[in-house]
Amino acid sequence: MKKMAAFTAISSFIPEFVLDNALLQQLVDTNEEWIVSRTGIKERRILKDKGTSHMAINAVKLLLEKSNTSPTEIDLVICCTVTPDYQFPATANIVSEACGIKNAFSFDLNAACSGFIYGLVTASKFIESGSHKKVIVIGADKMSSIINYEDRQTCVIFGDAGAAVLLEPNEDGFGIIDATMGTDGSGFEFLHQKAGGSAATPTFKTIEANEHFVYQEGKSVFKVAVTKVTECVEEIMLRNHLTTEDVNWFVPHQANIRIIESVNQRLKFKPEQVTVNIQKYGNTTNGTIPLCLDEWQHQFKKGDNIILATFGGGFTWGAIYLKWALGGQ
Ligand code: UT7
Repeated sequence: MKKMAAFTAISSFIPEFVLDNALLQQLVDTNEEWIVSRTGIKERRILKDKGTSHMAINAVKLLLEKSNTSPTEIDLVICCTVTPDYQFPATANIVSEACGIKNAFSFDLNAACSGFIYGLVTASKFIESGSHKKVIVIGADKMSSIINYEDRQTCVIFGDAGAAVLLEPNEDGFGIIDATMGTDGSGFEFLHQKAGGSAATPTFKTIEANEHFVYQEGKSVFKVAVTKVTECVEEIMLRNHLTTEDVNWFVPHQANIRIIESVNQRLKFKPEQVTVNIQKYGNTTNGTIPLCLDEWQHQFKKGDNIILATFGGGFTWGAIYLKWALGGQ
């Protein structure tokens, strides 16, 4: 059978500090009722005093321990993040060094909230080609480092977390079967960080103008997110002759409960097929999908058909169809 990239371990790291809606209410002009009814979020986690690598390192160390893997066996590390520790070197390099991963090449991947899906697809190609055998994909973001806690439109949505997965070759029909991804650069104006890159280097002026924070026109992003996520899931199901009955689990990016519900109005998965934990963590950008996989892995059964789907800044989007390799029959 064809060589495919299968998940053989998953782990996550969730910061301790809880920023709940009551606390946010003290920072900006908002309220519990608005946040829960418009986003589904009750609380989010905040990482204090450390960078994104702290969450990634903890998740990777746990991943290696859980899978009984020596760090020297890992041959590729991809860290999907929009909040790297530094512009360079890559956070993936920092994580590899801290975890004793000495025989791998490692790099960061930035596709905003779609990064983890793009990272999984990239990793799967190295495995399918036979060139790499143990690949770690990390999804981690310290969104609090680029959020303006005076902007009620964005600060209620985002949170910090990180997770990691180990992918290995499988020739028994389990693993990543198909993927579809897309980009539309015209989405730039609706969701971006204005300064800090080479087009607008940091100055006192950019700092004063709050240009190092997330800028989002929520309504416009919302509409495209619903359309694109729905379309890419429909496309991948059609191409693989899958009905909603054939799919055991739908794992969507956790950006807004209303996006998930609007997408599902068209896709029509049963609510119990859809993983939702946005109420606890908010939108952790690259962390949302691997966090769901980690939380639900004990409910997934070997052979389950799973669809992952995402949408993010760029615009970027994507969906993956996979057959779950872990657990009992
Ligand atoms: O993962 C990356 C991609 N990002 C997304 O998918 C995010 C997509 N967008 C969204 O999730 C939603 O658009 C938001 C949650 C960001 C905003 O929800 P909305 O229902 O689109 O609200 P809105 O921006 O249209 O604002 C409606 C009202 C406005 O008041 P007026 O002008 O009607 O008087 C806002 O000022 O709600 C007000 N508002 C708030 N009120 C209380 C906006 N934010 C808040 C707030 N608390 N935090």
